[in-house]
Amino acid sequence: ERLDNLSNRSRYVARSCKEIMDRYDEREDGLYFLTTANGMVYQTFCDMTTDGGGWTLVASVHENSHYGGCTVGDRWSSQQGNNANLPDGDGNWSNRNTFGTAEGATSDDFKTPGYYDIVAEDMSVWHVPNNFPLEHWNLAAILRYHTSNRFLRLYGGNLFELFKRYPVRYNVGSCSNRGPAVPIVYDHGDKESTKMFYGPNPRAESEPGFITFRPINNERAAMAICSGVKPTTGCNTEHYCIGGGGYFREHNEQCGDFPSFDWDRLGLGQGWSASKEMREAAVLLFYR
Ligand code: G3P
Ligand code: CA
Ligand code: CA
Repeated sequence: ERLDNLSNRSRYVARSCKEIMDRYDEREDGLYFLTTANGMVYQTFCDMTTDGGGWTLVASVHENSHYGGCTVGDRWSSQQGNNANLPDGDGNWSNRNTFGTAEGATSDDFKTPGYYDIVAEDMSVWHVPNNFPLEHWNLAAILRYHTSNRFLRLYGGNLFELFKRYPVRYNVGSCSNRGPAVPIVYDHGDKESTKMFYGPNPRAESEPGFITFRPINNERAAMAICSGVKPTTGCNTEHYCIGGGGYFREHNEQCGDFPSFDWDRLGLGQGWSASKEMREAAVLLFYR
């Protein structure tokens, strides 16, 4: 019966989870088929409950190895090493490449056509422990929050367009040239828990309660997203911001999808190192 119910969903034609909710009155979280403007059909997860629902999972950023510095699996930075001749890294923040699967979104990187196809207003972010089954993502998440000021309208309606305006590229500017920092509303967790998920040193260089785009660190490496925080001083964003372009210097391991979440040899949650919880949770990005 469950599969019969699910097969009804394959008759829906919609570009986003918001459209599925509005057009077919669907209210159940789960996998749905979406169709791009060009007619490409793909499947992803819809969050139909948070703040009224209609959230489309468009991507997940997963760190498969904290020991590899821009190696295999670092699709949101560079899988091609620390090479200054590749300032864009793999370039996936601003291209139409797609990879991964919805059910595997906490076990590897995931990117859907919705990332560039959906015209949205707000974003929601879930930090979900690695390798968790989809039906438990919501309850298992260590942090969930969303924006509510429709900021994407100002930047072309999605991250593909936002990162055209703020390229995720090595040497594109200095630390003061970062992109927008947008206030968030918490759905699970709060400013205090956000702070505690990062190390004490980054805690002193950032302010919780925001999602920040295209930060740049001291070495002029561009990252993509600071999830839950806004950099304030210091410019060591490699310890708490994710994704990036290519060529992260200072230390070989300061390159990767979670660039330098484990820098401090004192151990997890100490010095510059993020907590074990944060290091081992995929970052799920939704649009609405
Ligand atoms: O990113 C941290 C590094 O740039 C500086 O670390 O503790 O040696 O000042 P530290
Ligand atoms: Ca990855
Ligand atoms: Ca640094």
